[in-house]
Amino acid sequence: MKRALLFGITASLLFSCAPKKPKTTEEKIDSLISLMTLEEKVAMIHSESSFASGGVARLNIPHWVMSDGPHGVRKEHGTDYVPDEGVADSVTYLPVGVALASTWNPALGYAYGKVLGSEANARGKDVILGPGINIIRTPVNGRNFEYLSEDPYLISQMVVGYIKGVQDQGVSASVKHYAANNQETNRTTVNVEMSERALREIYLPGFKAAVQQGYVNTVMGSYNKFRGQYCTHHEYLVNTILKGEWGFKGVLMTDWGAAKNTMEAINNGTDVEMGTDLNLGPNPDYGKYFMGDTVISLVNSGKVDVKVIDEKVRRILRIMYKTHMFEKRPAGSINTPEHQATTLKIAEEAIVLLKNDNILPLKKESLKTIAVIGANATRKHAGAGGSSQVNAKYEVTPLAGITKLVGDNVKIIYAPGYEIAKDGKADAKLIQEAVKTAASADVVIYAGGWIHGYSDAWNDNAFDSESVDKPNLILPFGQDELITAVLKANPKTIVVLNSGAATDMNAWGGKAKAIIQSWYAGMEGGTALAKILFGEVNPSGKLPMTFPKKLEDSPAHALGAYPGDANLNEEYKEGIFVGYRYFDTRKVEPLFPFGHGLSYTTFAYENLSVTKSEKGAVVTLSVKNTGAVAGAEVVQLYVKDDKASVERPEKELKAFTKVFLQPGESKQVEFTLAEDAFQYYDEAKKAWVLEPGEFSILIGGSSRNIQVTASISL
Ligand code: BGC
Repeated sequence: MKRALLFGITASLLFSCAPKKPKTTEEKIDSLISLMTLEEKVAMIHSESSFASGGVARLNIPHWVMSDGPHGVRKEHGTDYVPDEGVADSVTYLPVGVALASTWNPALGYAYGKVLGSEANARGKDVILGPGINIIRTPVNGRNFEYLSEDPYLISQMVVGYIKGVQDQGVSASVKHYAANNQETNRTTVNVEMSERALREIYLPGFKAAVQQGYVNTVMGSYNKFRGQYCTHHEYLVNTILKGEWGFKGVLMTDWGAAKNTMEAINNGTDVEMGTDLNLGPNPDYGKYFMGDTVISLVNSGKVDVKVIDEKVRRILRIMYKTHMFEKRPAGSINTPEHQATTLKIAEEAIVLLKNDNILPLKKESLKTIAVIGANATRKHAGAGGSSQVNAKYEVTPLAGITKLVGDNVKIIYAPGYEIAKDGKADAKLIQEAVKTAASADVVIYAGGWIHGYSDAWNDNAFDSESVDKPNLILPFGQDELITAVLKANPKTIVVLNSGAATDMNAWGGKAKAIIQSWYAGMEGGTALAKILFGEVNPSGKLPMTFPKKLEDSPAHALGAYPGDANLNEEYKEGIFVGYRYFDTRKVEPLFPFGHGLSYTTFAYENLSVTKSEKGAVVTLSVKNTGAVAGAEVVQLYVKDDKASVERPEKELKAFTKVFLQPGESKQVEFTLAEDAFQYYDEAKKAWVLEPGEFSILIGGSSRNIQVTASISL
């Protein structure tokens, strides 16, 4: 007994003297940080290459390797920003962000992220710099194609799947650009001002969902200023909201070169400074970054507490542990048939049929000659657009997709009609050739619209591209003249447009028999387009943004609130009235409304019932396919506060689901609306409030095609 007791005491003494073996991740991180020198810590909080931050070889802490971008793993770069030649960097090119959002299918968000995550692993990347989720505030923003929507609820629903898809592969996503980065004009200098209500109701919900529902590992701070301070080291946006209110435990990295002030970066939550253009060249001195050597001096002189730096390192290590960077990386896979099938599926659900005067779907049996007109019929888009550029394994163009689908029995004749060139104007000869081609065919498929840049070179970025906004919505290269002439020569013309947002269609929109919005639909875009044209796929994409009749109808432009004044201040005067919230409340007729998209079948909305729940409502209805072919309908639920003490939008999207139905089939749909579906942000109370009263529940196939309504008193 005595001996046993003695042994017990000795053993416990021995145990308490021996260094404790770290067990939890946080303990492992504590232990690593305690072994690091200040210089090693600082090496980890700034970039050491164009796309990697520093590691600590001595402690087996790897470099953190990042890659754009939202729709594919970017071309390979060395330590600079020049794509490497002759390396194996071809990848799956997914439909761009706005195309993904047009599917209104969150499950495809996950599938999309899964492709990216697994290809990132195969390419040795730890972080994918996407998704891009800035609100589509103006149709001219050059990066709209990378973003998702004008609506915060749709963004929130799509972003969560994307992030989980990426991160379930053991790779980090980086949701960007936080925050209020809604244009490319003056993107690094503009100071955005907006009401707190607009910030909370419109610009932040997507980011909040990314953090609290998607558990995103990293967030990228934007270039612009907000209320006078750079967003990437913003006291209120980062410390108070992101890391405070939302409890974000991951890493806030800067956009490339967005850090401008060491003390602000140290104190306002910036964890990693990436990609400044300082010192690039043969012997770059990365220590010169804002979060480089200066930080070492500040800590050594006692001006900065090392604990603040430890916290940044802790966050990086936390994500490194979470993504298995200390273990063997999952092998991943690249360019697999499964990945290609995913891009095709997303493209099929993304392409939006805007208009159809009984011409689609085409029947190949009844056609002898098809004229394909427009330079985008043979254009490949993957390689351009700025940082989202990818080296696609292949890209099926519209012409290739159509040719393959129709086979040998239909003759295809092609004429470009215009030339893609800087300042390119209508070319009489090319138009004449196109008119002749159109006149000799049974039907015309016009494939035009916008491009990312004149070539794949970074410095010629134009239109749907990083760094520049579009000058207006008028199609470039004289396409209005061309389409008008083609329509005259052959009224049976279907217009297919590439673009990241709306186009001005006033010159020809009324005359075109059909209009298709094909975005930039990825490497299988041409296949998906052909299947839709010929009815092998029934279109089910819906616009994630309003298409105005003309640019001046868009709120930011109507109110003179773009692109900022001479002092680079830009007040978002429209407040919460962005997109359809503006068009519907101010009664401005759009060209095509938010949520619009046609099908080859028809749907009936029946048996709506709304029941009050504890703090919200349960809504049920049935949706029936009343046409002759299978199809999918995006059932959209909007809420209207019938009477409120503050101005509220005419309607706001609060739920949706995509229902797949065979002909004649009917399905029951149920939506559970929580309290937040009825709330607004009260600036005085600094809180979300539900003001008791009557609310309308409006359900239909677009924001302007409401089929059934009900009322509820809360
Ligand atoms: C872009 C980011 C991108 C980064 C790295 C920046 O210019 O704004 O979206 O991730 O470059 O390429």
